[in-house]
Amino acid sequence: MSTFRHPGLAEPRTKEEWRRYRDSRPPERPTMPPYQRYLKLPKEEKEDINEARDTFHSALAIVDTAQVKRLHYLMERRMKANSRRAAGARAGLVLDGPPTVGKSTLVKLFAARYENRLRRRHPEKFQDGYEANGMLIDYTPVVYLSIPARATPKDLSVLLADYLGMVQLGRATQTDITNHVLTVLADVGTELVIIDDVHFLDLSAREGRVVNDHLKYIANETAATFVYTGVELKKSGLFLEGQATSRATQTAGRNTRHAVSKFGCTTDADKLEWAQTVKALEDTLILYRHKPDQLVKLSPYLYDRTGGSICALTDLIRESAIEAVMSEEEAITRKLMDRIEISEYAQATYRSLVQQRRKSASAKPKTAAS
Ligand SMILES: Nc1ncnc2c1ncn2[C@@H]1O[C@H](COP(=O)(O)OP(=O)(O)OP(=O)(O)O)[C@@H](O)[C@H]1O
Ligand SMILES: [Mg+2]
Repeated sequence: MSTFRHPGLAEPRTKEEWRRYRDSRPPERPTMPPYQRYLKLPKEEKEDINEARDTFHSALAIVDTAQVKRLHYLMERRMKANSRRAAGARAGLVLDGPPTVGKSTLVKLFAARYENRLRRRHPEKFQDGYEANGMLIDYTPVVYLSIPARATPKDLSVLLADYLGMVQLGRATQTDITNHVLTVLADVGTELVIIDDVHFLDLSAREGRVVNDHLKYIANETAATFVYTGVELKKSGLFLEGQATSRATQTAGRNTRHAVSKFGCTTDADKLEWAQTVKALEDTLILYRHKPDQLVKLSPYLYDRTGGSICALTDLIRESAIEAVMSEEEAITRKLMDRIEISEYAQATYRSLVQQRRKSASAKPKTAAS
């Protein structure tokens, strides 16, 4: 029996988990009493209503950043271009970027919206008892696979089979499973296959070649658009030209690579985008004494703290909002955020930045005097 995992808190492993993720809604925004009334409430009552507020802050919000919009646009365009294309050599997309820049979030968001759009247009396909070509079909337009560490080509086929809910025979070979998977993918109408964390596939020199061939084979035999995400794929030998073998380039030749990156801080456009993201998150806060744009004004500080990482930013705001309620300060100030520790990496980067600035500040007067 599959265990229930909260949608959105773990990567979906089966079509049922995917559907729960797709249908999940963020928690309702709680209505709070006026501040003066709230202050007079007994402690227990305050705790009760704050539970809803904490849940809401914990979920925070998914922001359609400029990067999310740009990559969604490219995915949509590629899917349209592929929709009626003849078999073989369909071009896929490779989204390559460092950890925690929001790769999984953006591909799942795209896939969920895509599937919901299909459901609006073709509700009959999503109903029990839907038949196509004389067969009962469990219409599965989206496949989302998150690859576990050191996965082999056979694991990839097994993961696909598990996702599709296929009964597997113990002694089936990789070829058996793969062929069966390909038939099911065609039957259930799969149009989009997302392979997340593709760097976890075993890409050692010899295995890498097998993985490439296997991925190419599956993509070639499936009438779907493939989107791969991963870390340092440019160097990995999986999708790149140049240092790859000639067979690896076959995979590279049919896919386009797009960088997914942290927010920048150099140009005015960078700064505006960062501030807009902070604002989108700030606007969701439910804090009595927090003034509009109070956080936006601290955008440069937030950048220093997080190095432009969406993950670090949301972690910091999330925990600060909870702290603002627990400490009864009811606003997120710089003083409050100084008390919140986020990831070790972000903390270390921030510490060295502060040290650097102190050094250059103390060096300046000397230069002026000399
Ligand atoms: N568009 C977004 N809006 C709000 N928060 C986001 C967004 N994208 C990512 N996050 C936050 O950052 C966290 C990390 O994002 P995600 O898991 O998508 O990154 P990733 O690039 O897939 O990381 P990894 O390489 O480790 O798999 C998410 O759990 C979420 O809290
Ligand atoms: Mg991820």
